[in-house]
Amino acid sequence: MPDKITNDKLAINVQGVTKQFGTLKALDTVDLKARQSKVTGLLGPNGAGKSTLIKIMTTLLSPDDGRVMVDGVDVLADPSEARKRIGLAGQYAAVDDFLTGRETLYMVGRLYGMDSPQAKKRSQELLERLDLVDAADRQTKTYSGGMRRRLDLGASLVATPHVLFLDEPTTGLDPRTRLQLWDIIRDLVKQGVTILLTTQYLEEADALCDYIYVVDHGKMIVEGTAESLKSSLGQDVIELRVSDAQLARAKEVIEQRLKTEVEVDDLTQRLRVRTTSGTDDLLAVAAELKKAKLTAEELSVHRPSLDDVFLAVTGHSAKETK
Ligand SMILES: Nc1ncnc2c1ncn2[C@@H]1O[C@H](COP(=O)(O)OP(=O)(O)OP(=O)(O)O)[C@@H](O)[C@H]1O
Ligand SMILES: [Mg+2]
Repeated sequence: MPDKITNDKLAINVQGVTKQFGTLKALDTVDLKARQSKVTGLLGPNGAGKSTLIKIMTTLLSPDDGRVMVDGVDVLADPSEARKRIGLAGQYAAVDDFLTGRETLYMVGRLYGMDSPQAKKRSQELLERLDLVDAADRQTKTYSGGMRRRLDLGASLVATPHVLFLDEPTTGLDPRTRLQLWDIIRDLVKQGVTILLTTQYLEEADALCDYIYVVDHGKMIVEGTAESLKSSLGQDVIELRVSDAQLARAKEVIEQRLKTEVEVDDLTQRLRVRTTSGTDDLLAVAAELKKAKLTAEELSVHRPSLDDVFLAVTGHSAKETK
């Protein structure tokens, strides 16, 4: 996939969106494009502006400035037309405690103008797809967090949206439920749905997103595919683990050989060194350790992770709160 997005086949095109709350610029001339039938990720720490942008793209909030096109519709000029084409599962599952799962989906169907048999059929389909059949006739107040999330996602799918917005769909879910949601998201994309999701999890963006935007303090700071973001950092990381007794000596030997600083993680006894020629340097390190009669218990070279990218562009980790 080319790295820069062109304007053809765009499902979302946000240009110059600005939103101020009092003195706080929550969004500052933000641009974002999303291709049809792809997953676009909006990544950023707490308070970055992710939900604010989602609310603007889904007609729930007006920007102070800028333009928003979704599925060919000008969201600001024609919000009701835009709403017909989009689905939204918000950051906090909006599920009514006293309805059952089935009733929730049925009600949404009726609100969208389906007749009763249609709404029943659609509810059943979604309950099956989201693995909620067993719990379908229980009040949702008995649902676990993961079940509520899935039901909320189900509600956003009732009207078969072209573009689906998911605001932190997997925050707070256990790993198994998170993977289940990833599968559902991938399935939807196969069926042609365009997805825009926000996340604080870099591995999630890495696993799901075809293209990623990183937002911080209301500004888009970097964009690209996961691969291109990683390679823009340029450097591979060699990592090795040695015994406590050998730590200092190993650091010295490697620093002498590679002429660069080796970071030491005291807790895990790992040594890390950044390099531009990962494999060559890996072999050199292995040879040098052998010569010095040192034993590396683990020795590997890897590309920088999206975590490294985030740290490099924002100066703080994605999980840190400010
Ligand atoms: N209605 C509002 N009134 C005032 N300030 C707001 C409002 N909505 C959001 N903000 C502020 O705008 C900034 C961006 O908030 P937003 O909810 O978009 O962040 P976020 O990236 O979704 O964060 P999180 O990961 O915590 O959900 C924050 O500083 C927030 O406090
Ligand atoms: Mg948010």
